[in-house]
Amino acid sequence: MTANEAPAGKQPTETYDSAFLKACRREPVPHTPVWFMRQAGRSLPEYLKVREGIPMLESCTRPELVTEITLQPVRRHHVDAAIYYSDIVVPLKAIGIDLDIKPGVGPVVEKPIRTRADLARLRDLTPEDVPYVTEAIGMLTRELGSTPLIGFAGAPFTLASYLVEGGTSRTYENAKAMMYGDPQLWADLLDRLAEITAAFLKVQIEAGASAVQLFDSWAGALAPADYRRSVLPASAKVFDAVAEYGVPRIHFGVGTGELLGLMGEAGADVVGVDWRVPLDEAARRVGPGKALQGNLDPTVLFAGKDAVEAKAQEVLDAAAGLEGHVFNLGHGVIPNTDPDALTRLVEYVHGASAR
Ligand code: CP3
Repeated sequence: MTANEAPAGKQPTETYDSAFLKACRREPVPHTPVWFMRQAGRSLPEYLKVREGIPMLESCTRPELVTEITLQPVRRHHVDAAIYYSDIVVPLKAIGIDLDIKPGVGPVVEKPIRTRADLARLRDLTPEDVPYVTEAIGMLTRELGSTPLIGFAGAPFTLASYLVEGGTSRTYENAKAMMYGDPQLWADLLDRLAEITAAFLKVQIEAGASAVQLFDSWAGALAPADYRRSVLPASAKVFDAVAEYGVPRIHFGVGTGELLGLMGEAGADVVGVDWRVPLDEAARRVGPGKALQGNLDPTVLFAGKDAVEAKAQEVLDAAAGLEGHVFNLGHGVIPNTDPDALTRLVEYVHGASAR
């Protein structure tokens, strides 16, 4: 099945015909669809309220809470897609890796993965490990009506960066030491993570997600030759594993200007671009046959309304010749962002791109 055919019985026609899924399939759209990475979360007071006293990872296992938080930005901003509220480390936690998300810090792994013996801790993920995901997505697709739901996972490299470093890093010295110093162990680690990631995405698609995004947020730390040799095969394996469902697959990273062609080769239908490369140039680097997603600098939202509109228009102008364009920020919403600035941005993009 290709991305142009609706998977049997999975999504209503109105969802299939939404501007977001049409843009992903590079079909004509009534307006440029918009959603924001990290649209749920700390920029919203209603999020802070429902999360009060509930640790991040625990919140991801409560279907009613997940449903409410996922819907909050859709209600408020009228974005064209919802993104499932979860985190990239949820599947790792679900298979028993001892990790937590520390507020203001990010994921912390108690015992980092550094040796071949450590690999045995990365067992297969089954749907029974994440029943709350299936339940929440069932609830969400009923509530969302025609608005598509994006499922997601962390890409093997970005997951490996947390597992090997034990947390957030600026240099990725332990992960890269394994990649350069023990390429076979590294390849086996990424392959294991590709299988877990593919299984996690399949759970989300089977439950009703209309598209999936693979977050390789930290891939920009790699030189193209290293990315091609040591990372691309694992990400390609994830995209291959979910190709049969025919839902659009989005591939995103930060600082990936030099990797855009390779990220396209890995097999996604849509390539996410950060704000460092204008979309017309990004399209040349990615090559034909892919839609692009992006790419307003998230810090622009801290400037006034006129500046936001002028910069948003620059993005739309650069995207004018694209085969398909999904408007987004070049990375996630920054926590202190004024939610009203996001709502106004959605309105602006819809109005300025109406055809
Ligand atoms: O709205 C959405 O986009 C859906 C929710 C979402 C979260 N994490 C919730 C979250 C998504 C898509 C993610 C993905 C994610 N998690 C990525 C890839 C996206 C990116 O930004 O590049 C990465 C690298 C992570 C790992 C992670 N989790 C970090 C670095 C942090 C930030 C730590 C902090 O507090 O500054 C988290 C925590 C996290 N994930 C929060 C949320 C809402 C904040 C925790 C909180 O609200 O208590």
